[in-house]
Amino acid sequence: SIALMPAGVPSPNRVQDRREPQADGARDGFRNAPDTDPSLAGNREWADGIRSRMERSTLGVDTVEAHTVSDGEALEDIVDRAVTAGEAWRALGAAGRAEILHRAGDVLEARRAELLEVMGSEAGKVIEQGDPEVSEAIDFAHYYAVSAEQLDQVDGATFEPARLTVVTPPWNFPVAIPAGSTLAALAAGSPVILKPARAARRCGAVLAEALWEAGVPRDVLHFLQVEGRELSGRLVSHEKVERVILTGGYETAELFRSLRRDLPLLAETSGKNAIIVTPSADLDLAAKDVAYSAFGHAGQKCSAASLVVLVGSVAESERFRRQLLDAVEGYEVGMPWQDGSRIGPLIGPAEGKLARALTTLEPGQTWLRQPERLDDAGALWRPGIRDGVRAGSEFHLTEYFGPVLGIMTAATLDEAIDLVNAIEYGLTSGLHALDDAEIARWLERVEAGNAYVNRGTTGAIVQRQPFGGWKKSAVGAGTKAGGPSYLYGLGTWRDVAVRE
Ligand code: ALA
Repeated sequence: SIALMPAGVPSPNRVQDRREPQADGARDGFRNAPDTDPSLAGNREWADGIRSRMERSTLGVDTVEAHTVSDGEALEDIVDRAVTAGEAWRALGAAGRAEILHRAGDVLEARRAELLEVMGSEAGKVIEQGDPEVSEAIDFAHYYAVSAEQLDQVDGATFEPARLTVVTPPWNFPVAIPAGSTLAALAAGSPVILKPARAARRCGAVLAEALWEAGVPRDVLHFLQVEGRELSGRLVSHEKVERVILTGGYETAELFRSLRRDLPLLAETSGKNAIIVTPSADLDLAAKDVAYSAFGHAGQKCSAASLVVLVGSVAESERFRRQLLDAVEGYEVGMPWQDGSRIGPLIGPAEGKLARALTTLEPGQTWLRQPERLDDAGALWRPGIRDGVRAGSEFHLTEYFGPVLGIMTAATLDEAIDLVNAIEYGLTSGLHALDDAEIARWLERVEAGNAYVNRGTTGAIVQRQPFGGWKKSAVGAGTKAGGPSYLYGLGTWRDVAVRE
């Protein structure tokens, strides 16, 4: 999908005072849920309250404990119960399921503060990042509720939902991604086993509690922490599972496929995303968007910008580099419960290739801004920018998932596009340019599922920017989450013809 956002357009979302949460079921057509407006004093107080609970939060712990399996027999039992319960769920019909999904959207709104608390406490998300994520989860509920009803309206064909869907989400969007995948499968009429990412299992538990509270039966949605690789593999490759929705690394998708040859996998995988900045760009806006895309949530988004490619005179002058440094200066690093933190900790200590990217330069590279470790554990990092990244270098081609950005340069726009398209992934891609011919040329050539013009590369909005990649950023059917056809991939169609 292509998102054209003219420079300076404010957030599309409306404003709401969070002290009086109002369910706004969006039942009369889909509307995006509003983010919290921090300019309202009441909302700042509300956020202070969440931060004061974050550090010692235990939300979700009991649910995780109650729903952990460690033996095959228990797993088989859950699979069977889910498949059986799925029959009644499907028989409810799209309208019946949609009603429960709309309610789920309302419950998620009512639990916004709890979700932010657990995201900060367990997954290191600052409220500024977690708040739009909750809005996205709410959007998925209402959007897929509306989509489900459309499944029933295709003439001459009936939709047969998968008899069981397994959802394996990542830790980096610990609410929105499990919510989106789970709600989509439920909307389509499939029962779900949600296996949370280990590092974000409490977030997943609070999400599951919200969906049960909304009326999703417990045997239709199982929240299941599975102990051990062997048992996890058994679940994912179980013959009764008719869809596996994975969001994670490309290697994980490969591993899943090695477990079962005909695995019905829908996977959103890795990204190595770049923003190109040409001399026609609004450089102030470009610097701000690059900084936010690179360092929001410490760079741990599949959609994050890991490279910026400067074209022609932008590459040669110091001006853009200075503006970028200014933009990054505003990002205070600290724990999410500390007021003012805009970049929280990594999900764990930086290790392996990420540790290397934060500490070691390759030939020809210099630090425009050197990363710095700010805690003993190695999870809090001052974000870094390396200049002089060369074509074909490790930094050019590798996904890192951390707070480090690389600068590349190109003489022309086409040369810049060549550098970006040389990457084997194709999730998001950005262009900052005000020249129409440049925009048209880039759109003709860019190899990415989400192409953003004069906008950052993160934060796709449900319905407006259906999300999903090309190349090695998608495995399976390559459908777009939050888009009109996502549910179509979660079952099969039966076309009936009767001779009259
Ligand atoms: N959907 C998430 C984003 O767009 C990954 O940032």
